[in-house]
Amino acid sequence: MDPEYKKKIPGFKSMGSWRVKEMEYTIAAISGDGIGPEIVREAKKVLDKIGQKYGHKFNYEDVLMGGISIDTYGVPLTDEALETAKKSDAVLLGAVGGNVGNSRWYDVAPNLRPEAGLLAIRKGLNLFANIRPAYLYNDLAGACPLKKEIIGDGFDMVIVRELTGGLYFGERHTETVDGVEQATDTLVYSEKEIRRVAIKAFEIAMKRKKKVTSVDKANVLDSSRLWRKVVAEVAKDYPEVTLENMLVDNCAMQLVMNPRQFDVILTENMFGDILSDEASMITGSIGMLSSASLNESKFGLYEPSHGSAPDIAGKDIANPIATILSAAMMLRFSFDLDKEADAIEDAVRKVLAEGYRTVDIMDEGKKQVGTTEMGNLICERI
Ligand code: IPM
Ligand code: MG
Repeated sequence: MDPEYKKKIPGFKSMGSWRVKEMEYTIAAISGDGIGPEIVREAKKVLDKIGQKYGHKFNYEDVLMGGISIDTYGVPLTDEALETAKKSDAVLLGAVGGNVGNSRWYDVAPNLRPEAGLLAIRKGLNLFANIRPAYLYNDLAGACPLKKEIIGDGFDMVIVRELTGGLYFGERHTETVDGVEQATDTLVYSEKEIRRVAIKAFEIAMKRKKKVTSVDKANVLDSSRLWRKVVAEVAKDYPEVTLENMLVDNCAMQLVMNPRQFDVILTENMFGDILSDEASMITGSIGMLSSASLNESKFGLYEPSHGSAPDIAGKDIANPIATILSAAMMLRFSFDLDKEADAIEDAVRKVLAEGYRTVDIMDEGKKQVGTTEMGNLICERI
């Protein structure tokens, strides 16, 4: 091939006999509060190692959100911060918020608390589909709180949670009626909101075990009856996927009784919030679980499933793996870099198989390491 070729096409470089496209990505990095800065730092380190090895460049635009934004600008998310996130190719988030009840951030109106920044960015970026995988690592099976006969050979599910509708975003107010205070939250879902997230769930199921469990409360709620109807319509386009409907209270029970029955769980915002905590708990390792929040296109926000853990912040003991695996999800979903994502996931599995553990997943006979060292160990195996 003409040696001048690579000079003519910017972004191409020669790797042996291959010509590989060298890509450059801009990532909005939101460190946030608590352990956020430490875990995001480790995820960036891992991304940079991927960049070096596979010839990509990741540029980071640091964005303030949550408590740190409140301290700096008086609001949990500025318009400029949202704009920076919008212009990026993807968003990487650590965690936001302090101890609930922390007077500095919580004695203010709900729309000025750290979590309001998270809701604003979800809505502002139209991130309606929240993907939360929950699976049992063979090496960490000892941390699972369920009995061996329930765990069997392990479980592997993905919760697809609607993220920009329902009770979180419905009209709410508190008033006094006849001298008695009363508060109202409204749960609204449109057909369109249900359909687009249902399509995501079925698309994901097509790449997995082809089963969707749609979770609702159709024996009580109108919104759930509409949910069930629209999901059934979407299911017609995916004849290979088995659709099952389950009431949310039953689902909470089934998750601890027989978690192996689940492949993809599709549900609305509030139910998904609750069930995803339950699902992550039964893996015994919330410090390991990543998540992605996606819009209509390939754009997404990637964050660990756990919170900001302010009590252990700055001590170099937090587990960075969930954030690192979230970065892997970013490579896979937003950038189509599957082999790079595989490289991160393989490196994590290797480190665990070699017996390295952060304190949250520590077990007898294993080697305890801190946040920074865990990040280094994973980089070395990429
Ligand atoms: C989550 C969190 C958030 C939510 C909070 C922090 C607002 O619990 O991402 O699950 O309820 O969505
Ligand atoms: Mg939650």
